[in-house]
Amino acid sequence: AVEREELISKIKAQLIEKNAVLVSHYYVHPDLQDLAEATGGLVSDSLEMARFGRDHPAQTLVVAGVRFMGESAKILSPEKRVLVPEMDANCSLDLGCPAEEFTQFCDEHPDRTVVVYANTSAAVKARADWMVTSSIALKVVAHLKEQGKKILWAPDRHLGSYIQRETGADMLMWQGACIVHDEFKAIELDALKKQYPQAKVLVHPESPASVVKLADAVGSTSAILKAARDMKADTFIVATDNGMMHKLRQQNPDKTFIEAPTAGQSATCKSCAHCPWMAMNDLRNVLKVLEQAGTGYNEIQIDEHIRARAKLPIDRMLDFAQ
Ligand code: 13P
Ligand code: SF4
Repeated sequence: AVEREELISKIKAQLIEKNAVLVSHYYVHPDLQDLAEATGGLVSDSLEMARFGRDHPAQTLVVAGVRFMGESAKILSPEKRVLVPEMDANCSLDLGCPAEEFTQFCDEHPDRTVVVYANTSAAVKARADWMVTSSIALKVVAHLKEQGKKILWAPDRHLGSYIQRETGADMLMWQGACIVHDEFKAIELDALKKQYPQAKVLVHPESPASVVKLADAVGSTSAILKAARDMKADTFIVATDNGMMHKLRQQNPDKTFIEAPTAGQSATCKSCAHCPWMAMNDLRNVLKVLEQAGTGYNEIQIDEHIRARAKLPIDRMLDFAQ
């Protein structure tokens, strides 16, 4: 505990010394969420993280999340130094959608508007017409459908099929998945619902359709938080990364939150519902990256040609979100 306190106070001092701000995702360790808030930074979903990093005056951004979040920050603010605690913190959606294969897929379907999820590399975004996060994906696709557009969607097939069901849009889909949300199981969730008949079920749309079907509310991490605040219920079953539990419990001390069941929870992993890449962020590597700021260590670099092209679909989304 002493070491933890010491790390926290060293990070606070470094943030001031380096004119830096810490931006954390809801899935990272509670210490990093609380620290971001306590130091004038932000803990939020991927859309708000991108917006906050762009608008904040600090010249150095420390992005505690996964790689694509750091890249989005750099794409939007090339003049800023963007640091990530762990360069290998990736995402199965990003890894499962290599730029070359994706480009070929797009080339084969030139009649389609290319919409990519935020959880992709800068090079994939550079091939897209639109980028969306889970909090705005439905609205953007509904808007494109209204304009009579046919869509090529990548990479998350569950989020894609959810949007397709909700909007009725013509969507050709890349077959990626999030290794965390893909593990939620409908039969077990249904059994848990029977055990807690009064509970409301909150589901992130990266989960399989059979799980989404059992939801009382479906949405991004921030939409899940909002639903938990607004819904009149005492108990909630939550199908998203269990890093979310921290904010849910902090904001709703009188409500009970239960993790939705995943495959092999007890057999193969204690906590299947936690992203191994998000878990790579901790107090130690946040401090290290701040101490090394200016040396190039863990600094996000993106080829300028790719960055400038990747900015277009992100700006389009941010303009639309206003
Ligand atoms: P949000 O956009 O809902 O924050 O989701 C990001 C993510 O990686 C979900 O797994
Ligand atoms: Fe990617 Fe899933 Fe981890 Fe989110 S939780 S960063 S989608 S692997």
